[in-house]
Formats: sequence, C-alpha cells, structure tokens
Amino acid sequence: MSLYRITGGHRLTGSIKVEGAKNAVLPILAATVLNEGESVIENVPALNDVVTMLEILKSLGCRVKYQDKTVVVDSSNITSNEIPTVLVKQMRSSIVLLGPLLGRTGKVITSYPGGCAIGVRPIDLHLKGLRKLGAKVDMHGQIICKGENLTGTEIQLDYPSVGATENIMLAAVLAKGETIIRNAAKEPEIVDLQGFLNSMGAKVYGAGNHVIRIEGVKKLHSCRYTVMTDRIAAGTYMIAAAITGGEVNLENIVVEHLHSIIDKLRESGCIIRTNCSNLRLIAPERLRAVDLIRTLPYPGFPTDAQPQMMAAMCTAQGTSIFVETIFENRYRHIDELIKLGADIKVDGRIAVIRGVPRLSGALVTAKDLRGGAALVLAGLAAEGVTEVEGVEHIDRGYENLGRKLKNMGADIIMV
Ligand code: UD1
Repeated sequence: MSLYRITGGHRLTGSIKVEGAKNAVLPILAATVLNEGESVIENVPALNDVVTMLEILKSLGCRVKYQDKTVVVDSSNITSNEIPTVLVKQMRSSIVLLGPLLGRTGKVITSYPGGCAIGVRPIDLHLKGLRKLGAKVDMHGQIICKGENLTGTEIQLDYPSVGATENIMLAAVLAKGETIIRNAAKEPEIVDLQGFLNSMGAKVYGAGNHVIRIEGVKKLHSCRYTVMTDRIAAGTYMIAAAITGGEVNLENIVVEHLHSIIDKLRESGCIIRTNCSNLRLIAPERLRAVDLIRTLPYPGFPTDAQPQMMAAMCTAQGTSIFVETIFENRYRHIDELIKLGADIKVDGRIAVIRGVPRLSGALVTAKDLRGGAALVLAGLAAEGVTEVEGVEHIDRGYENLGRKLKNMGADIIMV
C-alpha cells in the first residue's frame, strides 16, 4: 500500500499541461465496441481506470494497443458479450458498456456494479432507457440484457444522469430509426462522446442541450479522435495553487468548461485571467470564504470538485456553506479534514466550514477519488507532515498528481 507524504507550507508556482479527461475517455473507449473497424483515440490519460477499461475490451475480443497517450482499438471481432465480474467490481463505470455491447451483439451479461464509496449509485435510469429501446433485462444475480432489434424511441429521463444518457446514446447508435433523449445530461463529456461517435459515422445531434437526437445507422467506420482535457483535474490544480497562496498557468484546457469553479475561486480572492485554452490563476496570501457552494449537474458546480474546494475553504477567512445535491455520501473526506484541524459541521447534505488560520499535518485516509485529492491539497497547506493513505483511489483519476504538484514546488513523495 502506498501513501503520499507531504510537507506542507510550500507556495506552488508553475505551469501544468492538463491531461485528457477520465470521464470522457471511459465512455469513448466503451463506444469503440460499436465499431467494426479501428478506433484511434488520442490524449488518453494514463490512469488505472483506463487500464481496467482496456482489459475489459480485450476480454470481449478487441485488439488493443496503448502507447504514448494513444489507444488503438480494433473491434472487428467481438468474441464475448460477458463483462468479467472481477473487472466490473474494479470500476463502476464499466456499466457504460451495456449500451454499446447490446447495440453491437444483441446481448450483454454483466454483474451489478453495486454501491460505491460516494453513494448507492443505482442504474435504474440506464435500464429503463434500454428497455424503452426494446431490450429485455433480467436481473437475477447477474444483469442479462437481450435486444437483437433495438428500435428508436422517445425517452424522458427522470434525472439528467450522465451515465444513463451515455448508455442510451450508445445503445441507440445502431438501433433502427430515431431516438430522442429528453432531460439528457449536458456535461461536456457527453458532447465529447457525441464528437467521437460522429467521427465514426454515427448521427448524434444536440449533446450539450436537454434534448439529444440519434438517428440509427447500420454500420460505423474507422476513426481518429482526440479526447477533451479533464475539467476536474484542471479545477484540482487551480485549487492546489489557490490553497498555497500560489500561482499556476494551465495549458491545454477548455476554459468554457471551468466557469463554475473559476467563479468560486474569484469569489475567494483569486485573480484569474483566461483565453480560450489557457488560464492563469494568482491566489491571495489567504483565501476568503465563499458564501455557498451547491453541487449541481453541469453547468452548475461539479460534485467532483466539491471535496477539493472544501479543503481550500478550511483555511479561508470566514465561513462557507456547502450543499451536496448529487451524491448522498460524498462527505467522507470531512472526518479526515477534521483530523488535520479543520472546523466542519455536517447536517445531512449541508456542511458548514469555519475557516481556521492553519491546518496541522496528520495521517489521513483517502476513501474515494476526489476526497483523496482534497486531502492531498489540504496537506499542501498544512503545517508539518501529512500522510495520505489510499493512494490507489487517487490514481484512478489523476495522471501523476504527485509529480505535477512536485514540479510546482510541493514537497510531496510517494512512499
Ligand atoms: C458521472 C461521473 C462522476 C460524476 C457524476 C456526476 C463518470 C465515469 N462518472 O457519474 O464522476 O460525479 O457523473 O457528475 O462519468 N442515478 C439514479 N439512477 C441511475 C443513475 C443515476 O438514481 O440510473 C442518480 C445517482 O445515484 C446520483 C445522480 O443520479 O445521485 C447522478 O448520477 P449520474 O449523473 O448518473 O453519475 P454517474 O454517471 O454515475
């Protein structure tokens, strides 16, 4: 088991080239199953979740190469439609293979991904959508979806779930006729998935809006596509600089995706200058508390940046209020932040953070990906040595977080 050992108190300065987006690349890799040709995908981050997804693709019969941030998937031969349980358990987002495998082979067998650290995470909306497209779903121990002749239809989502929107889009690409998804998720990763699907000949329109329309096509073709940059990783690096009173230049980003985070960091006293693909943040010596952070679907404040922003507010001047509306169990970092000296009270989905002048290093445990990143950031600001256990959670979603922070002047080592 490895841990990060951080000696806090160093001001971070420098530039970071932000990696490709985890939450975009996973559904894109799943989508390659639809293509009977070769998909070349660029700007793929080196993350454990990516490796797991590639293992799953191999187990289905795809030939996969991964070198220098480029993945080549040849899906001309799909030899299995069963997703191995051991890999499903490693990565919840394997559920996004339901749609494409069903579309390509007419049948999928998989295990229920179960709950996870940040909440129950049901898949009822995914399955409801697939059923509307004509799939038969049987859930006895395993999930078995059958649907040789998926047919386009209108689907109104009860909630704009990111995963359900993706799964339905993916199942609809090769279905007969037109599918309309209403109350679809509007996240940039959905737009990226549409971009990838259309690059291999699909006809998907409207991603980024409430309504997505998919005209089914018979066959797709080989393609080359570059994955968008990771807006959550970008936000994390901004907050890392902010919490240490530092400065950072982010390169290779889509500023448009970051406005909700930029707005809160400006409210806390940071100066942020942007052009469309670069950003410069200059933090004050001590951040100011923000009034309220309420997590919401895009373009609201992302739940995936809530823990990191909370870490920053622990030493800000004043009191901040957080309301987590997306996941019911996404405050598991709070007990750990309290070990570092934070003053936080929680009542259900509301957390009140009273800024303290300083945090002090301690041994803490990352219990999930973004909560783990928050603890690393808090460690950068804390006096003395902070050790963060559970690095495997953090590695699922950040490409070389430790090295990037070290290059900016952090005293951080992986032990
Ligand atoms: C994706 C992201 C995750 C992010 C989340 C919200 C990936 C791989 N993961 O997760 O990092 O935090 O979006 O931005 O892209 N829900 C249901 N039934 C369903 C599906 C979801 O009730 O069938 C609920 C969930 O429990 C949750 C809410 O909807 O409360 C949002 O979930 P969803 O948007 O589906 O998130 P994910 O796709 O799982």
